[in-house]
Amino acid sequence: PTVLILNGPNLNLLGEREPTIYGRTKLADIEKSCKKRAKELGLAVDFRQSNHEGELVDWIQAARRSHAAIIINPAAYTHTSVALLDALTATDLPIIEVHLSNIHRRERFRHHSYVSLAATGVICGLGAQGYLLALDAMATTLRTQEE
Ligand code: DQA
Repeated sequence: PTVLILNGPNLNLLGEREPTIYGRTKLADIEKSCKKRAKELGLAVDFRQSNHEGELVDWIQAARRSHAAIIINPAAYTHTSVALLDALTATDLPIIEVHLSNIHRRERFRHHSYVSLAATGVICGLGAQGYLLALDAMATTLRTQEE
């Protein structure tokens, strides 16, 4: 089974962008550690980033046929995008929403997530580790589905 890991706008700048909030780890490092962990869990990973809402919507729509699950850090679209919410709701795949920072400890406008309305679970505030925790949880979810 292949897990689609989606990253939203500005996450391509990870490592350089507000390191006090998001850390020094680059997105390419997160991709590498996700692929390693997925392998250990018997999963494959398709890791992508886009700054474009519509491209993320297209990928989510296509995943309904090609992927077993979605892990998504929607970045700023978390707080604005009904389109991402609708696309995610239309898949019947398990979905885990991940944020590097603890969005509840930040500005008020970050406290609300449209995406959470479609998410099976949410992980936030644990930095890059959150992606690995999401993969662990997804492996269990997919195993349980099979039974
Ligand atoms: C983020 C949190 C969002 O509020 C922000 O817009 C991001 C990254 C996170 O991973 O902590 O770009 O999703």
